[in-house]
Amino acid sequence: MAEHIETLLKTSALYHPDERTVARAYIKDYDAAYRESIADPEQFWDGVARELEWFSPWHTVLEWKYPWAKWFLGGTCNITYNCLDRHVRSWRTNKVAVIWVGERGEERIFTYAELYRQVNRCANALKRLGMKQGDRVTIYLPKIPEQIIAMLACARLGLIHSVVYSGFSAPALESRIRDAEARLAITADYGYDRGTAIPLKPVVDKAAARCPTIEKIIVVRREKPGITLDAGRELDWDAWLEGQSAACDAVPLDAETPLYFLYTSGTTGKPKGVVHVHGGYMVGTYITAKYVFDLKDEDVYFCVADPGWVTGHSYIVYGPLLNGATILTAEGKPDYPTPARWWELIEKYGVSIFYTTPTAIRLLMKYGDDWPGRHDLSTLRILGSVGEPINPEAWEWFHRVTGGDKPIMDTWWQTETGSILVTPLPCVSLKPGSATRPFLGIEADVVDKQGRSIGTGGGFAVIKKPWPSMMRTIHNDPDRYLGYWNNIPGCYTAGDVCHKDADGYFWFMGRADDVVKVAGNRIGTAEVESALVSHEAVVEAAVIGKPHRTAGEMIKAFVILKQGHLETPELIDDLKRHVQTELGKIAMPREIEVVTSLPKTRSGKIMRRVLKAKELGQDPGDISTLEE
Ligand code: WT7
Repeated sequence: MAEHIETLLKTSALYHPDERTVARAYIKDYDAAYRESIADPEQFWDGVARELEWFSPWHTVLEWKYPWAKWFLGGTCNITYNCLDRHVRSWRTNKVAVIWVGERGEERIFTYAELYRQVNRCANALKRLGMKQGDRVTIYLPKIPEQIIAMLACARLGLIHSVVYSGFSAPALESRIRDAEARLAITADYGYDRGTAIPLKPVVDKAAARCPTIEKIIVVRREKPGITLDAGRELDWDAWLEGQSAACDAVPLDAETPLYFLYTSGTTGKPKGVVHVHGGYMVGTYITAKYVFDLKDEDVYFCVADPGWVTGHSYIVYGPLLNGATILTAEGKPDYPTPARWWELIEKYGVSIFYTTPTAIRLLMKYGDDWPGRHDLSTLRILGSVGEPINPEAWEWFHRVTGGDKPIMDTWWQTETGSILVTPLPCVSLKPGSATRPFLGIEADVVDKQGRSIGTGGGFAVIKKPWPSMMRTIHNDPDRYLGYWNNIPGCYTAGDVCHKDADGYFWFMGRADDVVKVAGNRIGTAEVESALVSHEAVVEAAVIGKPHRTAGEMIKAFVILKQGHLETPELIDDLKRHVQTELGKIAMPREIEVVTSLPKTRSGKIMRRVLKAKELGQDPGDISTLEE
């Protein structure tokens, strides 16, 4: 495919950081720091790990048996000890750890001491249920503080959390519970979306009814009077924690102990359970949060992600807490009740670091300059973007309405990488639309199919050496893990096409595989296709991503109907609803086109590339394998 990658030669604006930003930044000279880190990456990571507290030291920084990595061998630690105990034992104990704002205007504030007590109560309650190290807990919660508390409580005991985004439907939740063989599910009665209460408990009921491993369901009840619970199997969160001691030691764990599974989409219909571990993940999220956002004690850090995705895991929960930061997190959408929602929060809480997504920026841009213009945003000093390429127009708008002088960290990474890998630091000169250069200790490159560095031009994004926060495997599917390292010789293949310019800047351009990014959410075309063919009217389906103004990409499906089924508006609506029921609203195709045949290879594989090229009026490239 490399031959077809457009090499968009950008003659882009260059934004140099101002002196004040550089003067206060941890890293003032990127080139020097990068050169030093890459001369001996193991020494670099060793130094980072030493900034954190370990129960016992490691004897070996890295064991690399291609493509299996172990970091900090012999070391024991617990990520929550560094997120909580380290701060509670310092002056930070009464510092605000988390400010949570609910969709209906509620506010809850946790100091480090209070968060520590809540996590310990929850951990003790988990122990009481007989949960043991290595057991899995599925967390299906809306964006409320209990989501963070439950994650940390699991980690404290060496249980493995599997957070599932609360927008997923029952079948999607069921497959994730099944794969993880979770003993426990933690949920809530409702989530809120643009003022509407979305019942979550029935989704868990439906999924859990088909998952024999689930022993108990814990329910956070936000509405009073509370929904009724099954007395034997279901427990109210508050009652569950009632009377639990606020003291619970963090269990010392081998550095390679799994911390969590997080399911993400790939090129098959089955989501992959990405496995991250305590030691390396702790080191990677800690140092990237610190250097990329220049996180300092006086900052108020606002990340708009949901802990249901990896951004929430790494940059709402673990990375910022490891740094003892004050974190603002808000339930709800950026334009509800008004498009001033986030700007108001920034003004009210004096936010200094704001990490958001291109899709949200494009949405807010549509509402115009007045909304941000009415608010005092002068506390902001560092901005961030993640999830998909940010188009220069959105970048420029974001930059302008926030004052025109705050650097934007366009951070490139993946669920699998655990932490940010290609990104500016505040001292780096920016080009709108480019994630700029690799993070310290990371050897990223753009190569051709054979793994040869292309120097300047288009190719595949790869990482050439292991890094501490890399996934360790795919749960239950080590072959899929191997796939990342076997694709291009000697490298971790990210699956992204990328252009490297003459200054060594990376321009990520999208996925090389059958993965679509809808509003920054990663959706496998195969999952949507398998949902479609599970409908009685569909015999075959092919799904592609199409450019969309605010969402970045949207899903378009081509379907072949079974004999006896006619194309009607009702049927099309029904197919859309069906995908929503099977997977969730985020995976619903915006367009469905009924066709009588699909382009296939001689071996019968659907050529989505050909469909996409035709849809977009582009050259389909090499079609020699096309059957007809
Ligand atoms: C894919 C990973 C990383 C947390 C959220 C998404 C795309 C991510 C950028 C960026 C261009 C980006 C890539 C990547 N992506 N950040 N700054 N510029 N593309 O995590 O769901 O695992 O998706 O998101 O295509 O491979 P994810």
